[in-house]
Amino acid sequence: MGKLIIANWKMNPRTRREAEELARASDVEGLIICPPFVFIDDVSRMISRARLGAQDVFWEEWGAYTGEVSLPELQDLGVEYVIVGHSERRQNLGETDEMVARKIAAAIKAGITAVLCIGETRIERDAGQTEAVVKRQLQIGLSKLINSSTTQLIIAYEPIWAIGTGTPDTPEDMISMVKLIKNQVSGIKYQVIYGGSVTSKNAESFLKHSEIEGVLVGGASLRSEEIKKILEIANKYKG
Ligand code: PGA
Repeated sequence: MGKLIIANWKMNPRTRREAEELARASDVEGLIICPPFVFIDDVSRMISRARLGAQDVFWEEWGAYTGEVSLPELQDLGVEYVIVGHSERRQNLGETDEMVARKIAAAIKAGITAVLCIGETRIERDAGQTEAVVKRQLQIGLSKLINSSTTQLIIAYEPIWAIGTGTPDTPEDMISMVKLIKNQVSGIKYQVIYGGSVTSKNAESFLKHSEIEGVLVGGASLRSEEIKKILEIANKYKG
């Protein structure tokens, strides 16, 4: 099994044209590109090797839910992965663990691979609450899962203080976190990946460890040269 490399473009780039250019330049085997909803279709037409993901989803399939996007709608565009519970949504939009749980369960039921994001703030970490926070996010976030045998799940540990700051967590910390996650979540299949200020300079320090099964890349994924270098590194550690 190869390493998972997920590009989270967040609310970038600004235009369809730029999105198309970035997609064309980033179209490499093994990459999962998660563009903003409005660019998914454009990106889809530009890629043949990379796979498609979305940055969020709603749990209902259709109906009176203004502004939301459903799983069937995403699947119709060829989306195979969906990020759920990113800290930017939890912090800026009040997304709760309960909402995350509904999204995770709906995505997995629909056959889409869910990427559950977890991680603590700097204040929580300094207060020694990292373990408690992560355990709560996992316990509630995965509480609505039913069909465990067909589960397609990725757990992304993204400490909030490491996101977009240029200061990633250490691979050693991440390996301890993987142990904690494995102790907490059993009976279902999943992979654990790291996110937070990953670049081509530090990707290898994470990817060389078998416990770390991939990386979620934000800022650096907006530069195709960067993401291609990260993919090259990942290919060295294909299982
Ligand atoms: P970053 O973002 O790589 O820019 O730190 C990662 C993420 O938020 O998914």
